[in-house]
Amino acid sequence: MKYSTKTGTLAELATGTLVTGLKTARQVTRALQQGALLDAATADFKDQVGQTLTVLLAKSSRVKRIVVAGGADDEQTEIQFRKMTAAAVATLRSLPTPNAIWALTTTKVTDRDLYWKAANALFALSTGIYEFNEHKSPDKVGNRTRLRILHMHADMRSKASVRRAVRLAQALKSGLDLARDLGNQPPNVCNPTYLLGEARKLGRLHKTSVSALDEKRMRELGMGAFLAVSQASNTPGKMIIVNYKGGKPKDAPFVLIGKGITFDTGGISLKPPAAMDEMKFDMCGAATVLGATRAAVEARLPINLVTILAAAENMPGGNATRPGDIVRTYSGQTVEILNTDAEGRLVLCDALAYAERYKPRVIIDVATLTGACVVALGSVASAIFSKNDVLANALLAAGDWTGDRAWRLPLWDDYQASLHSNFADMANVAGRDAGAIKAACFLSRFTKNRAWAHMDIAGSAYLSGSKKGATGRPVALLFRYLTEQA
Ligand code: BES
Ligand code: MN
Ligand code: ZN
Repeated sequence: MKYSTKTGTLAELATGTLVTGLKTARQVTRALQQGALLDAATADFKDQVGQTLTVLLAKSSRVKRIVVAGGADDEQTEIQFRKMTAAAVATLRSLPTPNAIWALTTTKVTDRDLYWKAANALFALSTGIYEFNEHKSPDKVGNRTRLRILHMHADMRSKASVRRAVRLAQALKSGLDLARDLGNQPPNVCNPTYLLGEARKLGRLHKTSVSALDEKRMRELGMGAFLAVSQASNTPGKMIIVNYKGGKPKDAPFVLIGKGITFDTGGISLKPPAAMDEMKFDMCGAATVLGATRAAVEARLPINLVTILAAAENMPGGNATRPGDIVRTYSGQTVEILNTDAEGRLVLCDALAYAERYKPRVIIDVATLTGACVVALGSVASAIFSKNDVLANALLAAGDWTGDRAWRLPLWDDYQASLHSNFADMANVAGRDAGAIKAACFLSRFTKNRAWAHMDIAGSAYLSGSKKGATGRPVALLFRYLTEQA
């Protein structure tokens, strides 16, 4: 789907569907001499947030149908605006319309400007219209008309900010689609080699190059923690590096690191069968940092950005890591692997230590790291851990702005002692309580004194049940953060 900006008098524009509030709908239908049609249709309509009404106009009419979004003419809170927008998106999605004009950003929203309204409406469209049908037979998918182009309506005064919102939203959509597609691919398709292939496609974009460390190279470098995870898989692990040089040559880069476990069986510490299929989503950290990178590159943000995907498959087998094995990490510190299901921190610790070589301005790692994070926050918020208040607050603000929300959990040293091992420098697990925090504490030992944040997206990255699928979170948060920094 493409986004564009359209100016002009609504009643004079041609479109398959006009999405707007009741007041504007009245004006437009009167101008088109179909006011009576709308009046009849709206007789029973509750003009409230969350309600929508679809009115078909005369076949000969320039505007084929109108979707009236309830509550649009009243001042709204942010929550109401999101609800109104989501309802309109859901209605639009169900209609056989190849194009639409969105005229729903004139609604007053307390403390938010037009740019915010346009950007958030477009983000809601990108999220709401997405579908993943690659592995379904054509007769199961259906060939209904789908939305191909959406025009954001603007007047002369708002044109510049709507244009900017449209441009950035198109880049964001591209990143979101990539992240969700990668997440939804089955684990027999999306393995580390596949991730590398997808990353390489980014290398065709401007100022971007892609490289990878294979297992042989990682062995030479001494990445014993990463290799302990990937060693029993028939698909070898890869450390994938995407380097975007949109900034000045001397600007220190932002570094994004993603957990890319393309399937997490738990290894010898095997997971129980229930919902194990969902462990194909264990690469969503990698998928979302790659998605955010694609958005940043397509938006041509003037920053330097290095994105590292720690891609591996966590399998049991005759050559798998045993509980009790001790490995030497790239940082030189040794780890006693007491539970092979705590594999995310093992691939990430070598990626974090490797990131040092880029002398980064900021490091953010993103991972479906712990079940404990799901227990703490559910699917509503991603967790943020950081000792750097400026960084944590910037990420939280980006989450609030986009509605892709996050919540900060502590990273106090009080939790560190639990990682003690009698046989190595540390253990990779530390008891069930505060599991998400202890995982973050483990990672913190590999980040030196950098401005670093860890995001645990185990609950937010994908949905279960009838809506099972990757959400693309936190691509929007990361993209907003990078845009603000740029
Ligand atoms: N990928 C899982 C975390 C996870 C669990 C993500 C549920 C999404 C939903 C991770 O590798 C894992 O298995 N973590 C263990 C850590 C434990 C052994 C300390 C967990 O959370 O149980
Ligand atoms: Mn695991
Ligand atoms: Zn995992």
